Amino acid sequence: MTTPAELTQHQTGSPHHGEPLIRYSRTAMILHWLIAAGILGNVALGLSADSLPDDWIRPVIDTHKSIGITVLGLVLLRILWRVAHRPPPLPRAFPAWERASADAAHLLLYVLMIGLPLSGWLHDSAWKDAATHPMTLFHLVPWPRIGFVMNLEPAYKEHMHDVLGAVHTWFGYVLYAVLALHIGGALKHELIDRESVLRRMLP
Ligand code: HEM
Ligand code: HEM
Repeated sequence: MTTPAELTQHQTGSPHHGEPLIRYSRTAMILHWLIAAGILGNVALGLSADSLPDDWIRPVIDTHKSIGITVLGLVLLRILWRVAHRPPPLPRAFPAWERASADAAHLLLYVLMIGLPLSGWLHDSAWKDAATHPMTLFHLVPWPRIGFVMNLEPAYKEHMHDVLGAVHTWFGYVLYAVLALHIGGALKHELIDRESVLRRMLP
C-alpha cells in the first residue's frame, strides 16, 4: 500500500483550489496510455476488418490478435500495480456521486480490459481452422490457443465460436458506452468545471 507520505512525492504543479495536484505515478501513466492506445487501435482494426480487401484481412486480424494479447499482459501488470498502490484521491470538492461514478466506471473498465482480450482469445481458440493457422505474436513469439476449447467436439465448437464472437462484440458495445462516460467525464472536469483531472494522468 502506498502511504500518504509516498503520494506526496508525486506532488507537482499548481494548487488545485487550495489542494495540491497529486498525479498518478509514472508506472501508472505509462500503463494507462499504452493500454488505451492498444485498445483503441484494436477497436479500429476489429471494426474495419470486414470491409478491407481480402488479402488485407488476415494480416489485420493477426495484428489485432497480437495487440490484444499484449494488452492482456499489460493489464495484468496494471492490476498488480493497482493492488499495491492507492490511486491519488480525487479532489474533495467533487460531489460524492461524481466520485462514485468514476470509481464504478474504472471498475467496469478493468472488467472490460480483461474481458475483451480473453473473449477474443477464447473465440479464436474455437475457430475450426485454428490448428492449421498457429498464432505468432507480431510474427515473432509463438503463442498458444486455449487447449480445452480447441479440443471441443466440432459441431459444439462451431456453436461456441459464434457465442464467444458475440460476447466479444458485446464487450465492445459496453466499452464504447463506458469510454464515452470516462472521456466525457475527463473533458467535463477539463472544460466546464476547470478542475483538471487529465493532468493527474499526464506527465
Ligand atoms: C484489446 C483487446 C481487444 C479489443 C478491444 C478487441 C475488439 C474487437 C472489436 C471491436 C471487434 C469487432 C467486433 C464487431 O464486429 O463489432 C473485434 C473482432 C475480432 N477480434 Fe478482437 N479485440 C481484442 C482482442 C482480441 C484478441 C486477443 C483476439 C484473439 C486472440 C481477438 C480476435 C478477434 C477476432 C477473430 C475478431 C473478428 C474479426 C472479423 O472477422 O470480423 N480480439 N475485436
Ligand atoms: C481504452 C481506453 C481507456 C481505458 C481502458 C482507461 C481506463 C482507466 C482506468 C481503469 C482508470 C482508473 C485507474 C485507477 O485509479 O485504477 C483510468 C484513469 C484515468 N483515465 Fe483512462 N482509460 C482509457 C482512455 C482514456 C482516455 C482517452 C482519456 C483521456 C480523455 C483518459 C483519461 C483518464 C484520466 C484523466 C484518468 C485519471 C482519473 C483520476 O484522476 O482519477 N482515459 N483510466
